[in-house]
Amino acid sequence: MSQIKAEQITWHAGTVTRAERANLLKQSGATLWFTGLSGSGKSTLAVALEQVLIARGHAAYVLDGDNIRFGLNAGPKILMDTRGYSETQAKRFGLGFSAEDREENIRRIGEVSLLFADAGLLCLTSFISPYRKDRDAARKIHQASKTGPVPFIEIYVNTPIEVCESRDPKGLYKQAREAVAAGKGMGFTGVDDPYEAPLNPEITIDTGTLSTAEGVAKIINYLIDQGIIKG
Ligand code: ADX
Repeated sequence: MSQIKAEQITWHAGTVTRAERANLLKQSGATLWFTGLSGSGKSTLAVALEQVLIARGHAAYVLDGDNIRFGLNAGPKILMDTRGYSETQAKRFGLGFSAEDREENIRRIGEVSLLFADAGLLCLTSFISPYRKDRDAARKIHQASKTGPVPFIEIYVNTPIEVCESRDPKGLYKQAREAVAAGKGMGFTGVDDPYEAPLNPEITIDTGTLSTAEGVAKIINYLIDQGIIKG
């Protein structure tokens, strides 16, 4: 019996055009990719922006790093405890914080955000996404989308680590410093794991000097300037 190979697949184009979707939703989709250290204020900004966009009549949705790690990109223990997976399955699907797992975390979110944006939503992603090549890969698949290029707006939340560490909302910086002092390490971004800052982000926001409202206004103004939303 001849075997069909996994790669023997053909793209099946839909018949609904982007213009038809835009007409229905009164907007066209885009991905707004927030990146920055833990505690930099990515999620605070993304959630506030989502609220403002909805109030202005736009369909927007936040994919938040911590929240997505309870479901699609959960670690093995959460998958076993809350989804009923076996240990073998949980090990196969679960993600932690190794470089490989962060890469897969961002790869999945790059693909999911592209689907959301292609469906016409303003998709706001809030992940540390520490590696430049992984963010660049997410950008590339938006540019090369089979249904035409989808806007990808990288928002670098460049709050200094001293500010992030002084906030330490989850106590993780303290834990990471203690782990390093004890000679074990924790692989925590900014402490003993790298963060590669964007070289050419569309927008940069330092939440140490800008309030959340000012940051949101800066992004809204950018979206208006780019014709993504109306003024
Ligand atoms: S990413 O690096 O893979 O993009 P993601 O945004 O999904 O990270 O998750 C980051 C969140 O996980 C942090 O806000 C923090 O609460 C938690 N976390 C747990 N362990 C680590 C770690 N080793 N490094 C960074 N964040 C961690």
